[in-house]
Amino acid sequence: MASKLLVFATLLEFAVAQSGAWSQCGGIDWGGPTTCIPGWICTYSSSWYSQCLRPMVDYDIDDTTPTSTTSSIPTPSRTPTVGLALVAQAAGKLYFGSATDNPELNDAPYVALLGDTMEFNQITPGNSMKWGATEPSRGTFTFTKGDAIVKFAQDNGQLLRGHNCVWHRQLPSWVSSGNFDNATLQSIVQTHCSTLVGHYKGQIWDVVNEPFNDDGTWRASIFYNTTGPSFVNVALQAARAADPNAKLYINDYNIEGTCAKSAAMANLVKSLKAQDVPIDGVGIQAHLIVGQVPSTMQENIEQFTALGVEVAITELDIRMTLPVTDALLQQQKKDYQTVIAACKAVSGCVGVTVWDYTDKYSWIPSVYPTQGAALPWDANLTKKPAYDGIVAGFLP
Ligand code: G3I
Repeated sequence: MASKLLVFATLLEFAVAQSGAWSQCGGIDWGGPTTCIPGWICTYSSSWYSQCLRPMVDYDIDDTTPTSTTSSIPTPSRTPTVGLALVAQAAGKLYFGSATDNPELNDAPYVALLGDTMEFNQITPGNSMKWGATEPSRGTFTFTKGDAIVKFAQDNGQLLRGHNCVWHRQLPSWVSSGNFDNATLQSIVQTHCSTLVGHYKGQIWDVVNEPFNDDGTWRASIFYNTTGPSFVNVALQAARAADPNAKLYINDYNIEGTCAKSAAMANLVKSLKAQDVPIDGVGIQAHLIVGQVPSTMQENIEQFTALGVEVAITELDIRMTLPVTDALLQQQKKDYQTVIAACKAVSGCVGVTVWDYTDKYSWIPSVYPTQGAALPWDANLTKKPAYDGIVAGFLP
């Protein structure tokens, strides 16, 4: 008869200038080491205290296996259960995060997992900081919904990614149908971005979202059609002026592998840098399809980081054609692992965010009715094989 026992990962040797097992490794006024001995992870507890903790490993131990001493710890019979944020940080990344939305914050079991910083130490508001939500009429700003998500993140000690200042979708009609001239629209963009980023100081920001078509040409948005590429410069400069400490990104989809669109993004970054326009990062959304993860992801991430910007995977999900089958779930697990491994392999790829963590709140079925099951937890908040794929992608 098999019994189940929770044991911890192997204790490894002490290293100089690193905090030891269970010791403090951070917090306000902390002057000691901020990294832990190998195998232990410096884990945020509050702004006053971080502690070296071990990811827990879940073993099934057969009665015939000797269990009495640490020298006979058995080989795990299945994938260790660890937190995604913990394994991401152990791999040198800043965060593993999730998007969320205000209505979901009334779902207690969902919220309990979202606020678990072993799984998620970063949050992106999926809708509540977009233009329509924050400046529904010209010069009138409403921050209530965004503030609620910021409060959630702050209460849990999670990083926040602002999403987004300038996008062609979810615009209020006063912007999309305003027929403004070039100078006026530039001024409107300037006011919107500086007010938004100024309100949410100290964040990572998707300042410009989805500026390109898939062939690498500029998207014919109200912004590009009126100002040419200048709206990008104006938005980034306004964001930097409003908060010199914010990390400023341009974010897009279908730039996961090397292609015309990712080349256009790289050229834009080069051009902005040549003009001294502030740009800190490229966001690769990564709304992907099971079995179709581009093979050139790592090379593509490297082409961005070689330009002197960081990269983040900002909206990861990997959808399948329904119904769900074991074969599709296994392929999805491999695909998640491939994406995470590509980010892990490049030090300038700083973090990964899933576009919500559970199929219960995925955007996919509303847009692609025959597809779904794109996230690492299913609609009952049960982990899918994809979860293990993410862990495996981060592990050495
Ligand atoms: O808030 C209204 C609600 O009052 C109304 O009853 C309901 C009826 O349909 O609609 C609600 O608005 C919806 C909104 O999400 C909030 O749930 C919109 O119809 C719906 O279009 C909107 O979808 C969002 C989509 O962006 C819009 O383009 C998704 O939630 C959001 O996840 C998705 O996120 C985008 C990223 O911002 C950019 N990258 C792609 C990604 C997926 O499309």
